[in-house]
Amino acid sequence: MAVYVITGVSKGLGYEFLRQISGEPGNTVVGIVRDKATTVKKISEDAELKARTNIHILKADVTSYDDLKQAAADTAKITGGSIDYLVANAGRVSQFDPYDPISVLGEKPQELEAELNKLISIHVTANIHLYNLFMPLILKGKTKKVIAISSGLADLDLTANYDLDLSVLYSVSKAAMNMVTAKFSAEYKKDGVLFLSICPGMVDVGHYSNSTPEQLAKFGGIMEKFLKFAPHFKGADTPENSIPAVRSVWENASVEKGDGGAFLSHLGNKQWL
Ligand SMILES: NC(=O)c1ccc[n+]([C@@H]2O[C@H](COP(=O)([O-])OP(=O)(O)OC[C@H]3O[C@@H](n4cnc5c(N)ncnc54)[C@H](OP(=O)(O)O)[C@@H]3O)[C@@H](O)[C@H]2O)c1
Repeated sequence: MAVYVITGVSKGLGYEFLRQISGEPGNTVVGIVRDKATTVKKISEDAELKARTNIHILKADVTSYDDLKQAAADTAKITGGSIDYLVANAGRVSQFDPYDPISVLGEKPQELEAELNKLISIHVTANIHLYNLFMPLILKGKTKKVIAISSGLADLDLTANYDLDLSVLYSVSKAAMNMVTAKFSAEYKKDGVLFLSICPGMVDVGHYSNSTPEQLAKFGGIMEKFLKFAPHFKGADTPENSIPAVRSVWENASVEKGDGGAFLSHLGNKQWL
């Protein structure tokens, strides 16, 4: 029914996008990963996915312009030159910044700069190139939807109202990514292309499974703030639940309804949890 290109399908939310979307008859999924052999092996050992002929895995480190250019050319050959959905999912969850405020991070200036550069490279620069290189394929597609998988941590109001002082560099990079997505919307809305930034909610994919007790105690502080924002919040969701929610947000959104460039939660609003 539709052709999807999704970055970062090796694990976590990306793998779940791949699993659910390729499970629907008629869909074609092109998954972009930086280690193709490992992902191809993982799929070949996955009882559910291994027989699916509608999955195509391409190799690209999204921080390499040349890799992305090659992936766009290879995608055009697979799909006949058009795609319907482009999902910018590949991302980096920093292990440097989740537990300390910006003043403490600033005590390690070189590490701070190195981490911020990596995050900007993956979340901002890479997606500018990704959107530009795949735009000819999107413009030839039927659905014309480009989705950035963002984070509610990039919401200015949430940060200001609940004093969210952790995950600073990650939040900065996702906020910039939202602006990139909105700027593309500003340029391509007239061509019928919907650009959206969507937060998938808090989803357990094992990012904090190696955290020390001290780090977890610091993390507890942010959870208290989350509970003030969302008293109903019971903890991280599963990828199985998050993906249908994210997909329903992009299905319900349209240029005609005025959604171009919006930054929405998995619930389709600003309720991040
Ligand atoms: N989980 C959450 O609670 C949550 C909340 C808000 C937003 N998000 C966002 O959701 C997206 C998916 O994250 P996740 O939680 O599923 O984390 P994850 O399990 O760490 O997955 C990240 C994916 O991005 C890929 N990736 C990273 N750098 C890459 C690069 N340079 N080139 C190509 N692929 C690269 C990883 O590939 P490798 O296997 O090669 O590392 C992996 O497939 C991210 O954008 C993240 O910021 C997640």
